[in-house]
Amino acid sequence: MPEYWYNFLGDLPAHLPQVRDSGSPSAAEVSAKVRPRALAAQNNPSERWVAVPEQVGERLRQCGRPTPLHRAHQLEKHLGTAARIYLKREDVLPTGSFKLNTAIAQAFYAAQEGRTTLVTETGAGQWGMSVALAAQMFGLDAEIFMVRCSLEQKPYRRHYMELLGARVRPSPSPHTEIGRRILERSSDHPGSLGTAISDAIQHALDRPSAAYLSGSGMTHVYLHQTLLGLEVEAQLRENHGETLGVAGRGDHLIACSGGGSNLCGLMGPYLRARADGADLRLLAAESTAAPRLTAGTYTYGRADLGGFTPEVLGYSMGEDFVPPPVHVGGLRNHHSSAIVSLLRREGVLDAVAFEQRTALEAGRLLLRTEGLLLAPEASHAVAAALEVVAKADAQNLEPVIVVLASGSGHLDLQGYHEVLRDA
Ligand SMILES: Cc1ncc(COP(=O)(O)O)c(C=O)c1O
Repeated sequence: MPEYWYNFLGDLPAHLPQVRDSGSPSAAEVSAKVRPRALAAQNNPSERWVAVPEQVGERLRQCGRPTPLHRAHQLEKHLGTAARIYLKREDVLPTGSFKLNTAIAQAFYAAQEGRTTLVTETGAGQWGMSVALAAQMFGLDAEIFMVRCSLEQKPYRRHYMELLGARVRPSPSPHTEIGRRILERSSDHPGSLGTAISDAIQHALDRPSAAYLSGSGMTHVYLHQTLLGLEVEAQLRENHGETLGVAGRGDHLIACSGGGSNLCGLMGPYLRARADGADLRLLAAESTAAPRLTAGTYTYGRADLGGFTPEVLGYSMGEDFVPPPVHVGGLRNHHSSAIVSLLRREGVLDAVAFEQRTALEAGRLLLRTEGLLLAPEASHAVAAALEVVAKADAQNLEPVIVVLASGSGHLDLQGYHEVLRDA
């Protein structure tokens, strides 16, 4: 497992636009109160390589890092393609997703600063599960606001968090002032990441011993997730004799995109090689339920509804946008992060959006060929890979394609069943 995270801010294709912070209290003041200082500092690290603390590395190894890089031979055979398809298997982690990589790091820093409770939001529940486990590892309490429609669709994730001793509340929540305001306007609001972030930050603000943690969208989260790209690079080279970016081959890195953390974790460490001329396509797969990168507007906006976060320039569906309650909770964000948006804006990142049915059909094909059941979010990346393979075949190319299998789908079977039962 890598001993350092990689700070790829210096490899971005342009300067990150300034954030706007006009709230009262300002987002900077809110952040200074609720976030552990070490994490705030990791939003703009001064060094290129940031050491993974020993206790964090130990816990990550205990959980199975480095995760396998799996060559999808059976899928390739089924498709009759000369492409070489690799899956980075984050689904094997104990909480069933890559979110654990940053949850462990963030819990460690919160504990080091003497905070006693971790507070966060969760969409589909994968992030909440990871925070609940990480809290347990470092002797902390966890309080989690889960998007209401996902909570109803996926009760098992709640059960897992509660088994670990976490307290789980639906969002919008009658427990917080912002939640009550949202519920007054719309009592059957299905919830969104925007409502859940607001609930969580407000809850943390009221408790000085609490630390608010973000599952995605923030630079420190992306930093922790660079283990993904660093491991892929080493595994391709050492175990498979492959290097990505061979000219004219059509090589691809593919990840689904919600808040952008699995995408940036996989692709961030490759930005320098790409800027230096490696022939490597970076592809984001999003949901047509919130198609920011393919159909959004490049504008200032916030990640939350309560106005606790700064306005950042990014691809957006608009702050009032409530995504339909599809089974891909992790891709239902209304505003893309500044970094992902910049990559897209500068032409470094391509993007494609899928209907949930198309994505889940791709997930089913992977199950039937490789025996792997991935989270619906990750199935969007698989759907994108199928399109890339079809195009490469038509052009007689033999690309190397790496797909981030960001999570396991065992707790999403209800969704697969409802969408595909008569297909
Ligand atoms: C399994 C899985 N994949 C992907 C995502 C999307 O998040 P991000 O875009 O930050 O990688 C989520 C978010 O909840 C998730 O749980």
